[in-house]
Amino acid sequence: MLHLIVFVLALVSHVSAFDACPKCGGMEVPYPLSTRDDCGEPRYKTYCNNGVLEFLSAAGFYYQILSINPAEHRLIISPPFILENTCYSPDLPEGGLQLDENLPFNISTRNTVMLLNCSSSILSSPLNCSSNSLCRQFEAAEEGDGCQGTLCCHYLKDSAMTSHRIRVRVGGCTAYTSVVDMKPGESIDMWHYGVELQWVPPNSS
Ligand SMILES: *[C@@H]1O[C@H](CO)[C@@H](O)[C@H](O)[C@H]1NC(C)=O
Ligand SMILES: *[C@@H]1O[C@H](CO)[C@@H](O)[C@H](O)[C@H]1NC(C)=O
Ligand SMILES: *[C@@H]1O[C@H](CO)[C@@H](O)[C@H](O)[C@H]1NC(C)=O
Repeated sequence: MLHLIVFVLALVSHVSAFDACPKCGGMEVPYPLSTRDDCGEPRYKTYCNNGVLEFLSAAGFYYQILSINPAEHRLIISPPFILENTCYSPDLPEGGLQLDENLPFNISTRNTVMLLNCSSSILSSPLNCSSNSLCRQFEAAEEGDGCQGTLCCHYLKDSAMTSHRIRVRVGGCTAYTSVVDMKPGESIDMWHYGVELQWVPPNSS
């Protein structure tokens, strides 16, 4: 009898919402992230498109979710995309990466942003556009080939900045990328390209 009750309870808890969603492709979708109406929390919407878990920006671009750390409420999405052999990021004319301010996600303070092919007006900004800026290493590497030799800058996105977008308007740059949790002096082979987001856990607001 007890076994039956436990079994029924297990069934009930399985069909209720607020459970973790099933895997997407090979990736776990931890609670509260939600890929469907019947699991997770609807405000933490992600998308499972052909087995690839994705995050939708406010401007309507999908970014692949590369990793998730449920204990720390963090996830890393794919870095802003630069079209091959160009120095152009398609989401930039729409304002770059922007999150919907009504959703419980923000951009963490561990992202080092590199702006590429900027106009000289960017030199009046507080960004690091010096000849030893980290963006020079990116430009010199294969990943940044299309942007080689352009005026570029980097900055650490810190808590003084708006947490729902990556600022790119200043200086009319045409491409950008981001590295998560960059350590001082770390070689480019160790860089983790991506943008780290955080979420406010349910029930904490
Ligand atoms: C850099 O930006 C300018 C416009 O500001 C554009 O004409 C040029 O093609 C870009 N350079 C590269 C390498 O994409
Ligand atoms: C710019 O960044 C480089 C690399 O991190 C650093 O060595 C340099 O001191 C920075 N320059 C300025 C003006 O902040
Ligand atoms: C972003 O969200 C986290 C998690 O709730 C919060 O601790 C942090 O203060 C927020 N950051 C900003 C800059 O709003």
